[in-house]
Amino acid sequence: MSLIKLIEFNEIGDSRGKLVSLEGNKNIPFEIKRIYYIFNTSEDVSRGFHAHKNLQQVAICLSGKCRFTLDDGFSREEVVLDAPNVGLYIDNNKWREMDDFSEDCVLLVIASDVYDEDDYIRSYEDFLRKMR
Ligand code: TYD
Repeated sequence: MSLIKLIEFNEIGDSRGKLVSLEGNKNIPFEIKRIYYIFNTSEDVSRGFHAHKNLQQVAICLSGKCRFTLDDGFSREEVVLDAPNVGLYIDNNKWREMDDFSEDCVLLVIASDVYDEDDYIRSYEDFLRKMR
């Protein structure tokens, strides 16, 4: 099964423009506890390089583009996020790396829990040991 799970959000559009609504346990498949966003990212920067023990997230590129690489300890898959009506669902135990940010990239992330550094796996070796 593919590591890349995309959610397409319904766009409510009319002559004034477009609107997307995000609701916990509806088009976001968990209760929303936290929202953060990444912006002003230099084009040569890579971020992420971690997995979470117990956290679900949906990443949406509201403006511009960036590339996600997901890894489950056995294989890697990439996807470019460049549309504000598409979310990338990232489950527990998925190593993620983000790069190829456009200058105007605004990456919104919706999370199932509050920030907790203890939930991070920041060593790729530890991640592989856990997954294999
Ligand atoms: P980090 O998750 O490592 O960023 P990325 O994976 O995008 O490279 O977070 C960067 C810093 O921000 C780190 O010191 C933790 C802090 N942080 C918070 O305080 N709250 C949050 O919700 C997040 C996501 C990060």
